[in-house]
Amino acid sequence: MRTLIYLDHSATTKPDAAILQTFLAVNEDYWFNPASIHKGGDQAANLLERAREQVATLLKTPSKSVIFTSGGTEGNNYVLRGAEIATKSRGKHILVSSVEHPSVLETAKVLQNEGFDVEWIAVDSNGQVCLADLDRKVRNDTILVSIQHVNNEIGTIQPIVDSIDIIRTKSRAIIHMDAVQSYGKLQVDFDKYPVDWITLSSHKFHGIKGSGVAASRNHITLPPYIHGGGQEHGHRSGTTPVAQAVSTAKSMRLAANEQQATFKHLDMLQKELRKFFEELSAVNILTPDISAPHILTVAVRGVKGEVLVNALEKREIYVSTSSACSSKKKGTSHVLEAMNLHSELIDGVIRISTGKHTSIEEIEQFKLHFTHVMKQLERNVKS
Ligand SMILES: Cc1ncc(COP(=O)(O)O)c(C=O)c1O
Repeated sequence: MRTLIYLDHSATTKPDAAILQTFLAVNEDYWFNPASIHKGGDQAANLLERAREQVATLLKTPSKSVIFTSGGTEGNNYVLRGAEIATKSRGKHILVSSVEHPSVLETAKVLQNEGFDVEWIAVDSNGQVCLADLDRKVRNDTILVSIQHVNNEIGTIQPIVDSIDIIRTKSRAIIHMDAVQSYGKLQVDFDKYPVDWITLSSHKFHGIKGSGVAASRNHITLPPYIHGGGQEHGHRSGTTPVAQAVSTAKSMRLAANEQQATFKHLDMLQKELRKFFEELSAVNILTPDISAPHILTVAVRGVKGEVLVNALEKREIYVSTSSACSSKKKGTSHVLEAMNLHSELIDGVIRISTGKHTSIEEIEQFKLHFTHVMKQLERNVKS
């Protein structure tokens, strides 16, 4: 039996053993409700606040700016909905890049249906936000701009600093950066990116699924969107899952400590994959040079992406079509459409995403199997 070669780290990563241990230990010893006033509650509350401080230190913001969430989707919903409620007296204009994750795009569409003037920022053929289009569209009544740090389908890094400059000269808009795909691979903090909100998801950097962070710079507050007992400084009611919060802080710490080494390793793997695909005439590399190191997305002419994914899966290699979210849905990827990718190429897209545990030997194996699969598919077409 072959061992699994997992090349779908943009979809999720395996939790680190140290994180699982922390999760278990907190649940075993500090399972109390952090809002309880007895000693157990106090201990849980202390752990929770320590975790918050650690996250805040990593993101370079005060600890009261950190809200623990259930992950990227919740964080993105919270920031978009909260920003809308907080600032609607200033205007109704919202700008969202056209290649955002569905948790941003779909929330923006809900706001549009509720009467907000939502516009989509165009991207170029590399999936990179077009700064001229942003400059054209941002207005003094723009209340919110949401631009992701790294695109989950093709890995493009967005020009966040330049975007901030454009937005700040023309408006007082709240700026949100979805950093779900970048944390642990690139530097992510408020000093480097002085946006107003950053959202993260722990399972993308070897943490626990169903946990993440929404953090603001210098404690910008938004109205609560889950109402109840007023936990998380009133922002997100519901008994705070301390073990998730502590595990999130630990997975962030580990990812930050390892970030430079992780980048170097992933970059080396990506270069290897690029070299391989550059030599194949049937393949177009879609991931631009300015990209995160863990994602390489290619379009294979004459083959359907799902067919390739299935053929590789039979060889115990897991890759995906453009994204885990869209690959099980019918229809075309909004990211590839926004890039104006030719429909012939859209059908044959696969995303290979590596992680810190991916070895060069696994990449060599991938190359061999990919070559075999392509030959097999060519033979099937001819016969
Ligand atoms: C860029 C981006 N934002 C948000 C999310 C959603 O995160 P979660 O799975 O934690 O809800 C994802 C998940 O793939 C993502 O890639």
